[in-house]
Amino acid sequence: MALRWKNDLTPSDVTPEAVFLNRRQILAGMTAMGAGLGTAAHAQELEPNSFEDITNYCNYYEFGTGKEDPARYAGSLTTEPWTVQIDGLVEKPGDYGLNDILSQMTIEERIYRFRCVEAWSMVVPWNGFELADLLDMVGVKPEATHVAFETVMRPEEMPGLRYPVLDWPYVEGLRLDEARHPLTLMATGLYGKPLPNQNGAPLRLVVPWKYGFKSIKSIVRITLTDSEPPTSWNKANPREYGFYSNVNPEVDHPRWSQATERPLGGGLFSRRKPTLMFNGYEEVASLYEGMDLRANF
Ligand code: MTE
Repeated sequence: MALRWKNDLTPSDVTPEAVFLNRRQILAGMTAMGAGLGTAAHAQELEPNSFEDITNYCNYYEFGTGKEDPARYAGSLTTEPWTVQIDGLVEKPGDYGLNDILSQMTIEERIYRFRCVEAWSMVVPWNGFELADLLDMVGVKPEATHVAFETVMRPEEMPGLRYPVLDWPYVEGLRLDEARHPLTLMATGLYGKPLPNQNGAPLRLVVPWKYGFKSIKSIVRITLTDSEPPTSWNKANPREYGFYSNVNPEVDHPRWSQATERPLGGGLFSRRKPTLMFNGYEEVASLYEGMDLRANF
């Protein structure tokens, strides 16, 4: 099946793999440098997100909240075999083996080059399949309006589950039209390799016009519902994190501006650039027509 959308990014846009793998160190380096130089310009550039803000964000809390915890501990997660329970308002509910799903998904080494943005930005080449294809496979009932996702919960393999930093299991949700949008990806790999455990192996969500925390990792359950499902960050801090989580430079996070981003891979002095509405994926704008995106952040 051909891609249903036009990939405007080329291989030369892709963030080098080494930069992706070492982004935390690179960001730490930039922050340390900013602090060391102490100039007003640098302080200003680095202010919106401290390194702590950034790394506490981009994480896999089931393995701990420390910046290196996921890379250190996620190796213990058994990702094979993997079963996804698909239930709720679907024609064919059941426990689906990931390999069985993949065998029906006609993944012909598709590469999705997506921009992603947090306080920094990167272009990551993901492998995977469109969530819409999976939804078609199980058949969505007409009453369904939303899709809920749940991460695996294995206390014996996930040391972070001992701490009530979030209400476990990690959950996320999309409106059905968002879930069906061809840009919404179930990722199984990046840079042409299987997903590293710390990035959500063996199956994670990628919604390139939404902030990174929407990308729920190691998914074991997908439920079709007729109401808006709860999401982990919204439950943890509703004032700061809404259901939609669209990249929106006009809506500041209560504690920092979201107007600019620093592209990684362009050297330590790469300049911040304006963040685009929907992370530049204008084709999704029609999904939100008529909605107040300040109220629905
Ligand atoms: N999924 C689970 N299950 N647990 C988490 O803690 N963290 C989220 C998201 N998905 C998280 C998760 C956050 S805060 C971010 S920013 C992204 O994963 C980071 O994904 P990456 O490390 O692959 O960039």
